[in-house]
Amino acid sequence: MTVCEKCNGSGYLVLENNSAGECQCLRPSQFARNMKLSGIPLRFWNPDKDVEASLSRYKHTTPVEKDSFAVVKAWVAGVKTSREWLTLYGPVGTCKSYLASALLIELCRKYGATVRFITVFDLLAEIRKEFNSDGSMQAFTENGVYDQVCEVGLLAIDDLGNAKASDFAVDQVSNLIDTRWREKRPTILTTNLGLDALRDVYGERFISRVKGAGPVLQFNGKDRRLLEVGR
Ligand SMILES: Nc1ncnc2c1ncn2[C@@H]1O[C@H](COP(=O)(O)OP(=O)(O)OP(=O)(O)O)[C@@H](O)[C@H]1O
Ligand SMILES: [Mg+2]
Ligand SMILES: [Zn+2]
Repeated sequence: MTVCEKCNGSGYLVLENNSAGECQCLRPSQFARNMKLSGIPLRFWNPDKDVEASLSRYKHTTPVEKDSFAVVKAWVAGVKTSREWLTLYGPVGTCKSYLASALLIELCRKYGATVRFITVFDLLAEIRKEFNSDGSMQAFTENGVYDQVCEVGLLAIDDLGNAKASDFAVDQVSNLIDTRWREKRPTILTTNLGLDALRDVYGERFISRVKGAGPVLQFNGKDRRLLEVGR
């Protein structure tokens, strides 16, 4: 391994104002570390198989998708300062999860952001594990999954509205959304439901935050899973 000439391998540089700054050479290892914890599905991120979801490989198939994708590109360029959210909705197989993964990868690489991809279904399963076996609502495990998804720099919550919407499920998702909204932490949402159907599940307070926090974009092409295999 070659030692970085800038920082002599320490990973840190002394800046003009005498404070310490991270050297660029730390970026790749930080990227690898963050990606390991990201939960991005292997279908969209698998370095061993050269699989990587990427905005540059996305192809829109309808005028609506063309407009939506233009907004996605503007969002990713500005999110570091705007801290906006992004909601992608549309029928099955329209690349919503693919795009969410591509955005996490790009922002992790560009800014060393901590990123996390989780489906609502897995999120709820993990949260349930953090409760006592008798179901009593004890304090959450410190640094459990709920804490992690509240605090991660950029979170993608996949498949909103697909898991069975018990009161418990709605409360947990609503709390998470509210926490991240209050703290201005960028969040990507994907869902098969339109805003009206989402409102029916999660209520007006939820919709107000989602709409207020950033663009809500429609994807409406054909199911690419079926197109891929010629069905
Ligand atoms: N740019 C691309 N190149 C190659 N394959 C792609 C590309 N974009 C998406 N796909 C493929 O299209 C399929 C559907 O994408 P994805 O899973 O993101 O859809 P989705 O909108 O999340 O669907 P669902 O609502 O069912 O969750 C996947 O099999 C994915 O691998
Ligand atoms: Mg999906
Ligand atoms: Zn260095």
